[in-house]
Amino acid sequence: MKRIFSRILLGVGCLSAYACGRTVPAEHEVAVVPQPAAVECGDGTFRLTGDTPVRMVGGAESDARMEWVADALDEVVEPLFGRKLSVGTGDASIPGAVNIGRADTLPQEAYRLTVADDRIEILAGGPEGAFHAVQTLRQLLPAAAFGEDGLRAVELPAVGIDDRPALAYRGLMLDVARHFFTVDEVKRTLDLMAMHKMNVFHWHLTDDQGWRIEIRKYPELTRVGSVRKRTLIGKDPGGEYDESCRYDETPYGGFYTQEEIREVVDYAARRFITVIPEIEFPGHAVAALASYPWLSCTGEQYEVRQTWDIDDRVFCPGREETFEFIEGVLDEVIGLFPSKYIHIGGDECPTKMWEQCPRCRARMRAEGLTRPRQLQGYATVRVERFLQRHGRELIGWDEVLDGGVSPTAIVMSWRGTEGGIRAARQGNRVIMAPTTYCYFDYYQTKDTSGEPLAWGGYLPLGQVYSFDPAAGLSPDERQFLLGVQANLWTEYIPDFDQTQYMLLPRLGALAEVGWGTATDDYDGFVHRMRRLTGLYDACGYRYARHAFVD
Ligand code: ACM
Ligand code: ZN
Repeated sequence: MKRIFSRILLGVGCLSAYACGRTVPAEHEVAVVPQPAAVECGDGTFRLTGDTPVRMVGGAESDARMEWVADALDEVVEPLFGRKLSVGTGDASIPGAVNIGRADTLPQEAYRLTVADDRIEILAGGPEGAFHAVQTLRQLLPAAAFGEDGLRAVELPAVGIDDRPALAYRGLMLDVARHFFTVDEVKRTLDLMAMHKMNVFHWHLTDDQGWRIEIRKYPELTRVGSVRKRTLIGKDPGGEYDESCRYDETPYGGFYTQEEIREVVDYAARRFITVIPEIEFPGHAVAALASYPWLSCTGEQYEVRQTWDIDDRVFCPGREETFEFIEGVLDEVIGLFPSKYIHIGGDECPTKMWEQCPRCRARMRAEGLTRPRQLQGYATVRVERFLQRHGRELIGWDEVLDGGVSPTAIVMSWRGTEGGIRAARQGNRVIMAPTTYCYFDYYQTKDTSGEPLAWGGYLPLGQVYSFDPAAGLSPDERQFLLGVQANLWTEYIPDFDQTQYMLLPRLGALAEVGWGTATDDYDGFVHRMRRLTGLYDACGYRYARHAFVD
């Protein structure tokens, strides 16, 4: 895929401002992340002031979501000039204005941005594309203007940008189960995504260590399941829990009310980000089992988990009540999240309990299953049918392949890309999120002595940037590749400061991979990325400054 885009890039006037073939003042450099598909540098600058009008032209005004584009422009402009731009409508683009119009021939996310000395024009396939154009405009501001206020005017470099993403799905997963993040912090995460033109927020809402979404039919999930009585201090020894393990002896909890969930979904929609909820099933279930013991094979009363390793205690697929429960949960989830896709987890589900459970064994006999792992396939397919009856589609981690999965399920490949390749070969759609390129809970430096405790691993910026999600897929199989995703598991990420630190600047690299414009020119990427850190600073985002040199 990278190669395809390098060809497109070679067809235009300049690859990027620093390679423009002419000298431009540094403040007028065109340095955008993700790198646009095509950039043509022009002459001169456009003078943007607090009096510059915004004009919705050629049908753009009839799309209510274009209002969100105007809001996004205000978010860029208001901090500079201390006022919003006035928005009007008209038939055609006029001088002196930011003109925003629709081009029906373009895909929804595509846009053409022209900055001329007398006007700015944005032509977009849909409001999504216009929103991306505004994000590009933001990065065209002179770096000296980042974080400034009380300005009278800023000069934007003349440029023609023709842009669209290569991959439809450009995701970020945030685990809010191991550590909880407030609604405001989730919104800040969505802001970050929007800045990088990422469009899917995968919200990991349930796990062994906490259930974080209010389900009215099952109130114990949040009354009991959202709180663990204490948390392991330091690195998890992996199964060997003894007296040497220390705990903080402090209850830890949090959950989102349904009202708050709606607020986040709406906030995301206004930034053209889809929120996909993940409800883990049948593994990573201890918080749910602690809330309703009748969901497990043994019916024992468990506590919400206080350590991090994989847990044998999972939902019992031998019981009918388990399916009544998950359908009851998903009924409410479907009502809260308009996303076409619902993630049901499916990773790291040991079969140990099932092997000893008379109900699970009876289920295997009744369904003609010969291996306990096939119980996971049975459970996944059953849940998928439920989702399909409600017009939704299922995403599962790549383990869903092992138990047997229907051709309509979407596979999220995390244990390398092999699962994704296998899935695409059998006609399943695929999202690539392998540990080797996409696990942002890994360290970003080799020398970890000064780093906050992390899961382990080593994933520097350059490695993220080198990811080719289509590698190993034939041209025919590539049609099944929906996109890429960064994953942030938060066992060792206790606060939002550290969340940002782990995400940035690596999110920039993955954004460019998903946009399809990452090339072998890593130095060029770093150069553009360094400029973007000016915006990070202005927004108060925390990032790993040393990531560029490691
Ligand atoms: C995973 O990292 N367990 C999907
Ligand atoms: Zn069972």
